[in-house]
Amino acid sequence: MTLPKNFMWGGASAANQYEGGFDEGGKGLNAIDVLTNGSATEPRKVTWKKDDGETGTTDLVWGKKFALPKRAVPQLVDGYYYPSHQGTDFYHHYQEDIKYMAQMGFNVFRLSLNWSRILSNGDDETPNQEGLEFYDKVFAECAKYGIEPLVTLSHYETPLSLIQRFGGWKDRHLIDAFTHYAEIVMKHYKGKVRYWLTFNEINAMDMAPYMGGGLIDDSEQNRAQGAHNQFVASSKVVKLAHEIDSNNQVGMMLAYSALYPYTCDPADQVKVMQAKQEMLFYSDVQAGGRYPDYRLKQYERDGVKLDDKPEDYDLIKNYPVDFLSFSCYTSNVLTTHHKEAEASGNVSAGGVVNPYLESNAWGWATDPDVLRIALNDLWDRYHKPLFIVENGLGWDDKLEEDHSIHDDYRIKYLRSQIKSMEQAVNIDGVDLMGYTMWSAIDLVSNGTGEMKKRYGFVYVDRDDRGNGSLKRYPKDSFNWYKKVIASNGKDL
Ligand code: BG6
Repeated sequence: MTLPKNFMWGGASAANQYEGGFDEGGKGLNAIDVLTNGSATEPRKVTWKKDDGETGTTDLVWGKKFALPKRAVPQLVDGYYYPSHQGTDFYHHYQEDIKYMAQMGFNVFRLSLNWSRILSNGDDETPNQEGLEFYDKVFAECAKYGIEPLVTLSHYETPLSLIQRFGGWKDRHLIDAFTHYAEIVMKHYKGKVRYWLTFNEINAMDMAPYMGGGLIDDSEQNRAQGAHNQFVASSKVVKLAHEIDSNNQVGMMLAYSALYPYTCDPADQVKVMQAKQEMLFYSDVQAGGRYPDYRLKQYERDGVKLDDKPEDYDLIKNYPVDFLSFSCYTSNVLTTHHKEAEASGNVSAGGVVNPYLESNAWGWATDPDVLRIALNDLWDRYHKPLFIVENGLGWDDKLEEDHSIHDDYRIKYLRSQIKSMEQAVNIDGVDLMGYTMWSAIDLVSNGTGEMKKRYGFVYVDRDDRGNGSLKRYPKDSFNWYKKVIASNGKDL
């Protein structure tokens, strides 16, 4: 099977995990710059200070309650290791890295702009020229090889100053700050960038609201307001993007996975339905143009009151996204029969285990059909072009003495994923724009802050404490992907 002629093939990244140069070129701090490293068993922590000088840390775990103590604001604190500060140093390696991408045949590269590299406090009147110039150089390098940039405006990189002064996205001030930032970069990079994403995994606002929205207290009220403010900001940016350049296309970005009931008890299916609503609420608003009834009812029940304006809803309705992009790595199993699942040995720290699938060391199952299911779910619901902007396998790859890396497990995983995506296109008729594998080059893991949870086609010599030469070595999957792209998905 092959894909349409204009199919976009590439890889993805995020500034906070990849770029480094955290205090170079006039960059201000962002949310992730004050996040420590962790592991599969040890959570990452946000470091903070109080006005009386007291310092401390608060664990940040996806899906778990998160709130800093009263009067604490996120800050750098001496004695902690912050992996985002160096990432894998794209800041100084962009030429080499983009050359590797070109060698694989990429025609698209997904990256995020570090908002606080452009506006160090997030809402400064004028941009930091050095910051703009850095991405000028990156885009020039992409253009040299015919690689189209796909730019995420905010991949968990809320400027720290906006968190310290406003408590993050719960404040409507961030709508204007974000729109101002988007206007600056869309005007500056006009003609160089055509594809934009507003917020990475916008539903992180429910699962990890510090990541998604710089919230330091994740009450339901704050999360609802944070989401609302991002919806309004996103629609304003869609409007602006089309006014600045009619070639601009703006997408949303959703974290999506297939969900299966553990048993055929209808109660399990209801669980699945509700968990799907949690994810799809975000795309129902951004792609569908209206708040879905199930969420309005939830807010009514829970006493959530939005600080909104009538014109917010006109914006949401009139400026939905042009396309829907999503991340999808794995599927999940839900049940009301926890004890039964436990007795059958199908429960791990991460939840219910699917006995039909294998998992990696972090408990993420390899599901050969997940992309077909996800693509069909989203296409049938919205009929908007789709883009898979993250899919990949985290693995503790071994660098051999001759600098080779034999990642046959990754090739096996990607082969099954690409097959599944091709079935959605060729058998089911889904309109799919492209596929950017996570990640082009090794970078820091978002969930654990580790280096050893590697995803790239190119290995970077750096360890979990930041030691290493930062030298790059192509893995076996590098040559395999090159072949896949050259045959437009035929030669798997
Ligand atoms: C997505 C994020 O959640 O998954 C990425 O958009 C992240 O930033 C990726 O890196 C993989 O997750 P992890 O925790 O393995 O890095």
